[in-house]
Amino acid sequence: MGNKYLTLSELNLEGQFLGFVGDKPGKYKYLQLEISSGNVQIKLPKELRRTLISSLIPGEPISVCGISKLNPHTGKIKLKAYRVNSIDGCQDQNLPSPAQAKIMVCQKSGCLKRGGKGLLSDLEKTLCDRGLLDQVKIERTGCQKRCSSAPNCILQLGKKKYKKVNPEAIASLLENHLHNLGLD
Ligand code: FES
Repeated sequence: MGNKYLTLSELNLEGQFLGFVGDKPGKYKYLQLEISSGNVQIKLPKELRRTLISSLIPGEPISVCGISKLNPHTGKIKLKAYRVNSIDGCQDQNLPSPAQAKIMVCQKSGCLKRGGKGLLSDLEKTLCDRGLLDQVKIERTGCQKRCSSAPNCILQLGKKKYKKVNPEAIASLLENHLHNLGLD
């Protein structure tokens, strides 16, 4: 019958990034792009999703290369990206913005003696279990001058800083932050 064939063509779009679409933060499968003819939804390959979620900011101009698939039977068109770049800056899909999310864990003796190593490994494990490890930069720091409350770490999300937070709380705050980035 021939009606199962899809027509493939190259896609090269530029427009304004509107946000991510999906069930949960970290599980977004699509991005929305505003182009001159309207809004389009473009599927993201798994390997790009996490990086893009932490680096794209709604409203910024981006370019998307990918393929479009046309189902000649239904007339439905599906778009899938294989590369997404920010047009303004030099940021691309391989460079998450470390300024957006960072955890600074004190690894000086005062904190190490009081569980600093365990804090770091708990943190990495919790973030890994929740699929967040590659969305945040973890920095080992010197003394944070709060030795009396050791072990110490600071979570930085954009301009906000959070102190005295445990790994579970850090993961939740980070999830919220990524969620907001995707919806704003
Ligand atoms: S040693 Fe960690 S805050 Fe001082």
